[in-house]
Amino acid sequence: MTTNTTEKISFSVAEAVKEGLTKKEKSLPSWLFYDAEGDRLFQEIMNMPEYYLTNCEFDIFQKYKQEILSIISSGTDGFNLIEFGAGDGLKTEILLKHFVEQSATFNYKPVDISENVLNLLQERMKKSIPDLDIEPINKEYFSALDSLNEARKNPMVVLFMGGNIGNFLLEDAQSFVNEIANKLRTGDRIIMGFDMKKDPEMIRSAYNDAQGITRQFNMNLLKRLNNKLDADFNLDEFKHYPSYDPQTGTTKSFLISKKQQTVQLKAIDTTINFKAWEHIHVEVSQKFDEDLIENMATEAGLTVEKYFYDDKNYFADVVMRK
Ligand code: AVJ
Repeated sequence: MTTNTTEKISFSVAEAVKEGLTKKEKSLPSWLFYDAEGDRLFQEIMNMPEYYLTNCEFDIFQKYKQEILSIISSGTDGFNLIEFGAGDGLKTEILLKHFVEQSATFNYKPVDISENVLNLLQERMKKSIPDLDIEPINKEYFSALDSLNEARKNPMVVLFMGGNIGNFLLEDAQSFVNEIANKLRTGDRIIMGFDMKKDPEMIRSAYNDAQGITRQFNMNLLKRLNNKLDADFNLDEFKHYPSYDPQTGTTKSFLISKKQQTVQLKAIDTTINFKAWEHIHVEVSQKFDEDLIENMATEAGLTVEKYFYDDKNYFADVVMRK
């Protein structure tokens, strides 16, 4: 099982890299960041002073856990809480603890394609909330929803936190929300975290911190290709460059070739030529406002029920209802 998963994933790494680097405009999907070292660096990012996102959602859940529970538990004798991409569960734990303390009838189903992540999460929750009814699902998001739909009676609440929706370009984010909404029944809900538009300087620093951790995080992608695909990227000849465009609300990160050079990726029999200052687009982090969120919800056939903001209005967790 473990072997299969590993093989499948490295196969898709090869595919994704070949596709991304042989296109006219080079790009690599941002999920490639997250190998073991990438996971570790992302944890460091979440602890940096510039990365305001971490505390926002923490604060929102602390402050509004009661109100969140009363919205999702009203008019039903139980609910199914499905979390997409649960991560370390630190923030979800605030909600779950409260729900259990209030004797809410619900079960918690974290969905992740990483079995490792799910095992760690389950261990953590067993210790901190022994009475939690938890059932991890090691599947892709949409097939997890399909299989849950077969057997359930109570409403479903889909949690998608961390501002991860921002990793999609807007039109892809829309398709993602549409696809979830299509699988929901009337009365089901999505609670989604959105990073909001704010001082552009502040946004840029979050993706270009003084200590250079984000730089390492981005460069690690090339390191990963060197290891995994037997490539010979010279890390000194590429630079990390983030940008934020207040007009579109889109943050983008690039790896930029400082000179004309050729890179071999032996494991996939591929040679890539870079022109001087040619870029590889590696990440999108969309910032939102209420209009963008409202439009997205409406298009997906959902109604925005409530915006929960942190004290500084940096971030919103939004409850949308079908
Ligand atoms: C995990 C997608 C929310 O875009 O802010 C952080 C990832 N990348 N710094 C984000 C990330 C660089 C993060 N998300």
